[in-house]
Amino acid sequence: MAIKRIGVLTGGGDAPGLNPAIRSVVLKAAERGIATVGIYDGWQGLLGESPEVWELDEVTVQSWERDGGTHIGSSRTNPFSSKAGAQKVDRSDEVLANLRRLGIDALVAIGGEDTLGVAARLAKKGAPVVGLPKTIDKDLGSTEYTLGFDTSMRVCAEIIERSATPAGSHHWVQVVEVMGRHAGHLALWSGLAGGAFMTLIPEHPFDIERVVRLLDERLARGSRDRRFPRYAVVVIAEGASPAGRREVTVDGKKDEFGHMRLGGIGAWLADEIRQRTPWDARAVALGHPQRGGSPSAIDRLMGYLFGVAGVEAVERGEWGKMVSARGIAPACDFSLVALDEAVKGLNLVDVKRHYDVDHYCAARQVFGGA
Ligand code: F6P
Repeated sequence: MAIKRIGVLTGGGDAPGLNPAIRSVVLKAAERGIATVGIYDGWQGLLGESPEVWELDEVTVQSWERDGGTHIGSSRTNPFSSKAGAQKVDRSDEVLANLRRLGIDALVAIGGEDTLGVAARLAKKGAPVVGLPKTIDKDLGSTEYTLGFDTSMRVCAEIIERSATPAGSHHWVQVVEVMGRHAGHLALWSGLAGGAFMTLIPEHPFDIERVVRLLDERLARGSRDRRFPRYAVVVIAEGASPAGRREVTVDGKKDEFGHMRLGGIGAWLADEIRQRTPWDARAVALGHPQRGGSPSAIDRLMGYLFGVAGVEAVERGEWGKMVSARGIAPACDFSLVALDEAVKGLNLVDVKRHYDVDHYCAARQVFGGA
């Protein structure tokens, strides 16, 4: 069947790189004589009696490669388990009916494990859908890159580095909490790039006694001998937790995918440091600005390339597949993987290879050190 109209949606947390990817889908589709419509607010936009769409053309999206967030909106709606009062109902048939009603021949879903998990299930029900990977956490399986990671890592690294100067001037421990529900990629690599002393990640529950001892030793040495630092920056992923304890949540409530909102572990850690050592400790949680602002050059290029590969997959009718990247632009290759494979297992930090479990930081062999 000739494809005449593509729908594109973005789901889950927003990320820099979404608008470049949407723009690329629109431009590539237009080049092939295919129209593109934007579906508002992720899967939410395909529920209800008369969903609205945004007809996207080359003029509308002309400068979207520079824009952060997503101009078509996003949500954490799960059509397979959608809230209806106190009940959860399966509304996936509504999505299929709306795709037909809107004359959409193919759908490009851009998202992480949740959004693409829905896409995988819809594909099994016959939906003509392909996926593009996005998440600042970089925890999606079967791809080496997910849109948003590079920009967020740069933002986090910059703030981590900036945190070092007040901490150095005032001789305190600065705890910086970054996102990362299951995976510590963002924390570990921005921590290394930004010069953090220690990084705590969800993949390796930490021993609070050891954390405190390492910090105390560092600041005590700096007090005895001024040639050494008398401060420390500790990066902690929101999903990290001390051994034997659960993650810290904001309110204990779950979203439609069963995830709790995480946050607060940084403040908890700073409190522990203050209580257990003679040193002052401050905490900052970077929150949503870490995924805000305009996309880095890498996320613009990756958005462009993912979009092109997505439209090519649509033209070949590769339903139920996700575009997977090997490497990062400009040196990268793309292939297609089954969506249900991609969402089966998370991509976590390889602790054995990349994490020093004695010092809670990136392993020295990361850069070929002894
Ligand atoms: O999935 C990406 C992510 O940024 C996670 O790191 C974080 O737990 C979550 O989104 C935050 O969710 P929300 O945008 O709903 O606050």
